[in-house]
Amino acid sequence: MITQQFTDSPDDLNAAAALLAKGCVVAIPTETVYGLAADARNEEAISRIFAAKNRPADNPLIVHIAHRDQLYTVASHVPPLAEKLADAFWAGPLTMILPRSESIPDITTGGLDTVGVRMPANPIARKLITLSGCPLAAPSANRSGYPSPTTAAHVIADMNGRIAGIVDGGACQYGVESTVVVLEGDSVRILRPGAITAEMLATVADNVIIDDAVLEELPAGSVVRSPGTKYKHYSPRAKVTLVTGEIDAFRTYLDKYAEKGAYAIIYDESDLPVPVPYLCYGRKGNEQAHKLFALLRQCDEMKVNHVYVRAPQPTGMGLAVYNRLIRAAGFEIVTGEE
Ligand code: TXA
Ligand code: MG
Repeated sequence: MITQQFTDSPDDLNAAAALLAKGCVVAIPTETVYGLAADARNEEAISRIFAAKNRPADNPLIVHIAHRDQLYTVASHVPPLAEKLADAFWAGPLTMILPRSESIPDITTGGLDTVGVRMPANPIARKLITLSGCPLAAPSANRSGYPSPTTAAHVIADMNGRIAGIVDGGACQYGVESTVVVLEGDSVRILRPGAITAEMLATVADNVIIDDAVLEELPAGSVVRSPGTKYKHYSPRAKVTLVTGEIDAFRTYLDKYAEKGAYAIIYDESDLPVPVPYLCYGRKGNEQAHKLFALLRQCDEMKVNHVYVRAPQPTGMGLAVYNRLIRAAGFEIVTGEE
């Protein structure tokens, strides 16, 4: 298959939207990461997404809408708390799990009777939804298990020849995927942390719960509320080890264990010296989020076989970064003191 590359010009957006309207898969920019989009109501179109990504069939897709009216066509019931969260955080990086309507087929939700809905803030994404006339199901546009793409070049690396088109909208604003929440009465439970933080959600909801799966590996056999959280994920080919603790402990650990050819990802040059070559992802959660996936991909381009990452502070947006890193590391987390 030839993958057509589109810019954000009006002609190109019309052409990309026409492909979406006829059931093709097109990668689109959003403010979080690039998504692999197709008509959420069209079973054949959705099966093409699963094939292109090589994604397990039980992992549900998020449905993207451009207007609030569309919410009531994809969800069968919208509780008052969902309306309040939408008022506060849409358009933006918040996905709400709601009961699904009949317009959304089983394949889109992995057989669940709920649907994840989000209204992206990225104007190109919104325009494509409007022009195509389709609510767009879109998982992150990486091969399943690999770090999410934050530039069109990342998408091309993973998807060239596997999908009908790619719309280049430049680098994504946030760099990690949306916050995924489920509503439980007056409480909001975070299944996946993102740029809409627990602190922000607490300004709207009475109670915010961080699901156990956000910060640790669930024991085998436990109930998984969000199927995507159970897989090893976000991983480059390089082995990733996450090192918690202060910088002295990080250095000591690397002195002891880091092999030749390994790399470190540190906050910034004030963490130096470290005994191996390094990349920097910043000290603040939002900066780390913006850089993380690109740096993991860069490690693969450089054929690094083992990367030791200095763990972020798991607060604010750092929680999202920590959540992705423990999965990239296959839950191999070490404290520098060991
Ligand atoms: O920012 C984002 O959310 C990006 C962009 C493209 O919008 N999309 C994205 O999709 O990250 P994906 O498929 O890579 O991750 C969706 C996550 C998965 O962990 C999935 O299991 C969960 O959301 N999810 C989707 N629908 C769900 C549902 N009905 N119930 C529980 N979890 C759901
Ligand atoms: Mg994903």
